[in-house]
Amino acid sequence: MSVKIYIPGDSGAIAVGADKVAARMAQALKARDLDARIIRNGSRGLYWLEPMVEVETDRGRVAYGPVKTSDLDGLLDAGLLEGEDHPLSLGLTEEIPYLKRQTRLTFARCGITDPLSLEDYREHGGLTGLTNAIAMAPEAIVAQVTESGLRGRGGAGFPTGIKWKTVLEAQGAQKYIICNADEGDSGTFADRMIMEGDPFVLIEGMAIAGIATGATRGYIYLRSEYPHAVDMMNRAVKVARENNILGTSVLGSSHAFDMEVRVGAGAYVCGEETALLESLEGRRGVVRAKPPLPAHKGFLGQPTVVNNMVSLASVPIIMEKGAEYYRDFGMGRSRGTIPIQIAGNVKYGGLFEAAFGMTLGELVEDIGGGTATGRPVRAVQVGGPLGAYFPRELFDTPFDYEAFAAKDGLIGHAGIVVFDDSVDMLKQARFAFEFCAIESCGKCTPCRIGSTRGVEVVDRIRDGIEPESQINLMTDLCNTMKFGSLCALGGFTPYPVMSALTHFPEDFRPGPRMASPVNQAAE
Ligand SMILES: Cc1cc2nc3c(=O)[nH]c(=O)nc-3n(C[C@H](O)[C@H](O)[C@H](O)COP(=O)(O)O)c2cc1C
Ligand code: SF4
Repeated sequence: MSVKIYIPGDSGAIAVGADKVAARMAQALKARDLDARIIRNGSRGLYWLEPMVEVETDRGRVAYGPVKTSDLDGLLDAGLLEGEDHPLSLGLTEEIPYLKRQTRLTFARCGITDPLSLEDYREHGGLTGLTNAIAMAPEAIVAQVTESGLRGRGGAGFPTGIKWKTVLEAQGAQKYIICNADEGDSGTFADRMIMEGDPFVLIEGMAIAGIATGATRGYIYLRSEYPHAVDMMNRAVKVARENNILGTSVLGSSHAFDMEVRVGAGAYVCGEETALLESLEGRRGVVRAKPPLPAHKGFLGQPTVVNNMVSLASVPIIMEKGAEYYRDFGMGRSRGTIPIQIAGNVKYGGLFEAAFGMTLGELVEDIGGGTATGRPVRAVQVGGPLGAYFPRELFDTPFDYEAFAAKDGLIGHAGIVVFDDSVDMLKQARFAFEFCAIESCGKCTPCRIGSTRGVEVVDRIRDGIEPESQINLMTDLCNTMKFGSLCALGGFTPYPVMSALTHFPEDFRPGPRMASPVNQAAE
């Protein structure tokens, strides 16, 4: 039997040369007449090691990385196909501490299977959740998801089971399941990794959601900046349809469910669920006032579940192993696991799925290894561009929705962006306003006008023009945006701004803004 060699086809790996490594590997195997097969798997999420090449051996999979095309001859000479030693060897993949310390439930197969092989998916437990769901009444599925404690991973942390119950009980000629895979938050890539590395888990989760709520059509909404994910999802949907996972009779049952992939142009606000619906219906992505909730009147005015991709991809394991199994992980009201995406100026950037409860400090210093520059960490932004900046003093905050809220922060889509001590927090506050001004849909005044006024105010503080009164004005403006905006784009922009001011006030004083030698040298 051919030896299996795994070279990720994930766009994060391709960006650092995985396609070239795969092509060169194919040539080398042919030239050496070696009996081996290359599988383009998803990424394991250890991005500093990409392209990470793995080979299947009797002992398990052995990893090498990061591999360049120029390394391949040396690797093959050293006995890559037998998993022999080499300076790039990382040993048994499963023993790599970054992976070993994780609890992979949602990402259990990502990077392990051939993403488009249904056989591989089944062999690794795939479709058990859907099979179980088919044998249950819709109310029982909804109850199981509710009892699991799963909360939306898109940002708001709303209980998924309750949302599904609303749609199940709503009256409508046609109900819909919409997967929000827009993934606009800075430093996040979990949705993309699943779509490129284990697309069937999303399809399975959406089919379960359909059966649970009586929806027979689904859409995956993602952006044109994710071409590989679009391609992979389209191919996976086709395979699923050909194998009766989708269609008029899901896995031979009396349930019908089918779905399509829809591509947006890529606007941050189109990740907001009502703007997403507008975009999906063919209009400009502008936020709709709520109520009505999408669960009552969503896509084309019909009852609609809008869930984040990770929320939906977490459902199959809940239906496979039970609500209790999932709920047993986590802390407080944050149950189960969360795929934390560690990015920015960090040594070991990647995806780390863990039960809720690890502290921010553990994630940044221990798992992430501190900054890539080797300088001290000064600030960490959690939860995307609308998330608060946390200083080191708050590193004992556990990763938990309520614990972050208590510190005036949010978890969002669980992206962590790390900054070293050369960061200028006044510039970051300006960036938050600027981002809001660029991305605002324009529907409400506090966000549309407030964000531009915010940039001007920060500029005056920077230039030392009446700094005290301008700081008061900025605080006032933030309150207006927080309480007067229609959606969280304008409403949450105050989080990064005010956390920068609260935790790093020295950067808002006139004169050289911080003590950092790097910054002083640049002034
Ligand atoms: C400006 C803005 C952008 C958003 N972007 C996303 C996004 O990219 N992905 C996402 O799942 N949710 C995003 N959300 C949250 C959605 O509105 C919605 O709460 C979510 O899709 C619901 O799914 P969940 O309950 O599974 O989290 C965004 C919200 C706002 C206000
Ligand atoms: S807060 Fe901003 S993005 Fe949201 S509705 Fe108002 S203008 Fe649009």
